Amino acid sequence: MSRADTAGSEQLDISPAVHYDRVTDAWTLLLGNDLHYGVFEHDDETLPHATHRLTTLMAAAADFRSGDRFLDVGCGIGNSTQWAVESHGVVGVGITTSGRGVERARRLAAAADAGQVPTFEIRDGMCNGFPDESFDKVWALESSHLMRDRQALLRECGRVLRPGGRMALCDIILVEPISFPVVRSLRTELGLLNRVFGDARMETLDTYAQLAQSAGLEVDMRRDLSAEVRRTFSCWRTNATMHRDTVCRLIGNEAWQDFVDSCEILETLWDRGILGYGIFSAVKV
Ligand SMILES: C[S@@+](CC[C@H](N)C(=O)[O-])C[C@H]1O[C@@H](n2cnc3c(N)ncnc32)[C@H](O)[C@@H]1O
Repeated sequence: MSRADTAGSEQLDISPAVHYDRVTDAWTLLLGNDLHYGVFEHDDETLPHATHRLTTLMAAAADFRSGDRFLDVGCGIGNSTQWAVESHGVVGVGITTSGRGVERARRLAAAADAGQVPTFEIRDGMCNGFPDESFDKVWALESSHLMRDRQALLRECGRVLRPGGRMALCDIILVEPISFPVVRSLRTELGLLNRVFGDARMETLDTYAQLAQSAGLEVDMRRDLSAEVRRTFSCWRTNATMHRDTVCRLIGNEAWQDFVDSCEILETLWDRGILGYGIFSAVKV
């Protein structure tokens, strides 16, 4: 890390809506249109190829059928929502708390040469306001770490699903529960990660499964993808170097440097077995 303290975090609002309004344009250069990790099967794969693989794993977990009403909770700029509509014939609705995200998602959908386009709205995944049982499929693709009340997120997903409907979730996870002393020893690193990625909290896959269960969702698949996603960080670093000038113009030099430093921190936390990546699916009973 180039900076040893968290100075600056006081001035920065890292609440997810504000954070994503600030970073979305830069993120599309650093991460690509899929604002999520890649799942790599080969060393020479590109990041877009690998991020698309994660989307397809989520689609398999959701088990899309043509005509399904599909809710994408935390939709970024809507790339995966759009793909689900085009390739599976679902009726897609993407929600996010970021106004900039909705704006970019609507623009992307308008530019797509597709008959069916998803709709995008500003709504909170922890209190989405949709009627009960109004969707066949719901997913949260790497958005749950930004929602403080995970129980509320899963309860809302369960509430809006029809009986027999499916939910899928993937995200950064805690590989094992971590003790307070470990959290304390990592406070500088975690502070920097929060500045870069927004105010985030991680859970173990076990905790997610328990929360899903108590929301009336029966988990039928779970998988640890930590090893497969690790190459994502070196790709992000490459993108950061390639787009340095534009990203610095969009979010500032300091935030660019923080992003580069965050890649190294994440690699270390991955290699120490502290953070990882998981996916699960569940059916509404
Ligand atoms: C890492 S991005 C993932 C975006 C998208 N799923 C993708 O894979 O491209 C996290 C997304 O979650 C959204 N988000 C954060 N908190 C949210 C909340 N409480 N309700 C809905 N969306 C939220 C952010 O605005 C952002 O769009």
